[in-house]
Amino acid sequence: MITKKQTQVLDFIKVYMAKRSYAPSLDEIKKKFKLASVSTAHYYISKLQDAGFLNKEHNQPRAVSTVKAKQTVEIPILGAIAAGQPIEAIEVPDETITITRDEIGKQGKHYALRVQGSSMIDEGIFDGDIVVIRKQEVAENGQTVVAVIDDNQATLKKLYRENGKFRLQPANPTLFPIYRDEVEVRGVVVKIIRNLESQLDQGQSRDEKYVRKIDYSWDYRGEKTKSHTHGIHTYPAMFIPQVGRRLLETYSKEGDTICDIFCGSGSALVESRLIGRNAYGIDLNPLAIFLAKAKTAPINPQKLTKEYIALLDRVEKIKDKEIQRPDFKNIDFWFKDKVIVKLAKLKKAIREIKDETIQNFLMVAFSETVRYSSNTKTGEFKLVRVKGDKLEKHDPNVMGIFRKHAEKNIAGMADFYKDAKKDSWTKIIYGDSSKDNGIKANSIDCIITSPPYGDSRTTVAYGQFSRLSAQWIDVFDDPNDASGVDNDLLGGRATKNLIHTLSSDYLKESLEKIAKQDEARAKDVLSFNLGLNECLKQAHRILKPKKYFCLVVGNRLVKQVRIPTDFIIAELAEKIGFTCEDIIVRNIPGKRMPIKNSPTNIVGALEETMNKESIVVLRKN
Ligand SMILES: C[S@@+](CC[C@H](N)C(=O)[O-])C[C@H]1O[C@@H](n2cnc3c(N)ncnc32)[C@H](O)[C@@H]1O
Repeated sequence: MITKKQTQVLDFIKVYMAKRSYAPSLDEIKKKFKLASVSTAHYYISKLQDAGFLNKEHNQPRAVSTVKAKQTVEIPILGAIAAGQPIEAIEVPDETITITRDEIGKQGKHYALRVQGSSMIDEGIFDGDIVVIRKQEVAENGQTVVAVIDDNQATLKKLYRENGKFRLQPANPTLFPIYRDEVEVRGVVVKIIRNLESQLDQGQSRDEKYVRKIDYSWDYRGEKTKSHTHGIHTYPAMFIPQVGRRLLETYSKEGDTICDIFCGSGSALVESRLIGRNAYGIDLNPLAIFLAKAKTAPINPQKLTKEYIALLDRVEKIKDKEIQRPDFKNIDFWFKDKVIVKLAKLKKAIREIKDETIQNFLMVAFSETVRYSSNTKTGEFKLVRVKGDKLEKHDPNVMGIFRKHAEKNIAGMADFYKDAKKDSWTKIIYGDSSKDNGIKANSIDCIITSPPYGDSRTTVAYGQFSRLSAQWIDVFDDPNDASGVDNDLLGGRATKNLIHTLSSDYLKESLEKIAKQDEARAKDVLSFNLGLNECLKQAHRILKPKKYFCLVVGNRLVKQVRIPTDFIIAELAEKIGFTCEDIIVRNIPGKRMPIKNSPTNIVGALEETMNKESIVVLRKN
């Protein structure tokens, strides 16, 4: 099979040869298709040769000629198929692929689908692959089929008939089979086409300056992510601990001092402590600082439990008149009066704990209780109030929520206390990573981090997510300052214009495309990248020479333009004095972040953000 781009290259060669009786040079192909290098042109030629469309005539200039046409077929790509949870069967022919007849056999009608998800990885079918399906309504036991269940939900699975039922079996040991009395078979997989090609067509791979390596071993799908203190509080876009640990183990050693320059709730810092690295964490969101400190300070679980039990006792005895209602704007909009009273009692009882570390640790469960008992939709990272009937019926059991979280957190702390390396330390700095935060030059052995995805308005609003908790737990002198956090984070303030000196062609290209549609959005993107560039400079300053800096980043969509943040970082960093050694792509199975996002202010208009991320591995020169 050949892709659309390869077909175009082949057509160009045919027309060229028809006119001149000799083939175009690689350089002419490069120029015609505006490829980054001759090697990319060579790549297309070799793909066409491998697929049997061109002859191999080695070591000669213009060394290609078209072969007598093999019998080929155009196969429509009818949409996407879930190799995971079934998705609605959509059949919208958008494009076609060309395949030689030999590859799929002479019989039958065929169509193709793009695979989403990784439930068939043990069958060699990966997310982003294209599968060619032979249309048929029956299948044999064990064949990989397109199955439609539950009224038009389609999925790709192995089919088995057992005890009068159908078993749809994923080829991934971490996933469970689906059983149904009825299954409609829409065809059987006859060929799998690896994703690398489609990436190339989207301008994402070999004809680029950098190469992304797809490595599913970084997905950690189905693995436990809430061990130790990792699960004590929700935070947007948290690191999967396994990713943090693997980076730390690969790029640092025991006794090293590492830094997470956007530490958020402190996942990388927890992992550092567990495997004997000293760690600095920096963040500009006060709630993140509070959480990171609580997560990384070991507390004797017996002492903690004793204080917790005493607290439960005390809180019952606090009278309504003894409490102090917090005073911040719109408190009555976000909390019912009854809830405010209960929260205030609980807070008073926690504040009476003398040991500050224990007080703060229990305050984390309180912070979660604030979120869950507020009038907000808890499934959202932005502050959205529940409405109508739901709001009227909303009657949260404040103490019940607190107990559930506190007890789970104490169990997590018991594990952390047991496993944390006693002689390593963690220092957490409230600061802006684009500035000097007092960490000495050339002092850090490794930096591991995941920056925000873009400005808070259109991606994750860390400040907004944190606001109500931050206002209740007094992380600000004036709780009303909590609403200003997002403006100070990367990309928080749009630039005045689009003039800049950042040296990244990828950024320039993205900005141009976005600005054509919406200049304001382009300014947001520029502001984010200007800030990020300053953070890269600071990271370069604190890192020891020859040491590694790993960034886990997402390539977001803005106005349907995919911004290659991983490549932009690589370009900017190389100007500053790093070398980009690797870019690894992983799926995001468990990261808490919006997969769909509002691209505009239009209610209900959704735009896919990301389900993959890149790990950019830089090394200081
Ligand atoms: C993707 S999150 C990090 C999540 C973290 N890895 C975790 O596991 O919780 C990005 C963080 O960057 C922080 N941030 C944004 N701009 C910043 C800046 N200029 N300086 C420091 N931190 C910043 C945000 O507050 C947010 O906590």
